[in-house]
Amino acid sequence: MKGTMLYEGKAKKVYTILGEEYQRILEYKDDATAFNGKKHEVFRGKGRLNNVISSHIFQYLHQQGISSHFIDSLSETEQLVHHTCIIPIEVVVRNIATGSLTKRFGIEEGSAFDQPIVEFYYKKDELNDPLMNEEHAKLLTGVTDEDLTLLKQQAKAINAHLQQMFDEIGCTLVDFKLEFGRMHDGKIVLSDEISPDTCRLWDKETNQKMDKDVFRQGNGDLISVYETIWNRLKEDIHV
Ligand code: C5P
Repeated sequence: MKGTMLYEGKAKKVYTILGEEYQRILEYKDDATAFNGKKHEVFRGKGRLNNVISSHIFQYLHQQGISSHFIDSLSETEQLVHHTCIIPIEVVVRNIATGSLTKRFGIEEGSAFDQPIVEFYYKKDELNDPLMNEEHAKLLTGVTDEDLTLLKQQAKAINAHLQQMFDEIGCTLVDFKLEFGRMHDGKIVLSDEISPDTCRLWDKETNQKMDKDVFRQGNGDLISVYETIWNRLKEDIHV
């Protein structure tokens, strides 16, 4: 049975479960935020779409041997997950140059990389999640060299699986953000969510943006774009 709310983030709420010390319920909200919360809007149905898309992706990744906090989908907006202590590192993987990378380094928008680029950002709203190197990550978050090697290896493996999955539904996986957490036995697993809120997806034929950039840039209907992603994923034979 659902217990008390432990935490409310920008896009999700976390609840305890009575009698299950090491499990949690994640409830996906209808809120969309961008620019570190400066832009905020509520879209009816967004929580459901991110929940079903994220559940589908975690199930697909489990089939590919990638473990995560995901246990089961409980309702339209809720997931049962293993409790993890989130490591305050946002791991970003990039296949094509756009977003903060092009601004920071002056790289031409849309150039594809031969090898994916993995970046670490310090997850701290007050500091606007700054880019950090591995020494910073060790100093600020207490991770070890071995942990960082695991995060990079997992991020690249997840990228390869998701590139293939999205390619099959007619989308290019441009970039995405992952979070990892420690389970009670110390094991590090993929956590949080993977959804159009945390990925950039471009339609292979039209190059149309099919992710949260339509909200960030105010040039599209977020719900219909997320609905299209879900409708295409539902047809995916792999899960
Ligand atoms: O803004 P930037 O180009 O660094 O974003 C890279 C990727 O990480 C994008 O797919 C974006 O949606 C995701 N991201 C995220 N949460 C953040 C920062 C970036 O999901 N706090």
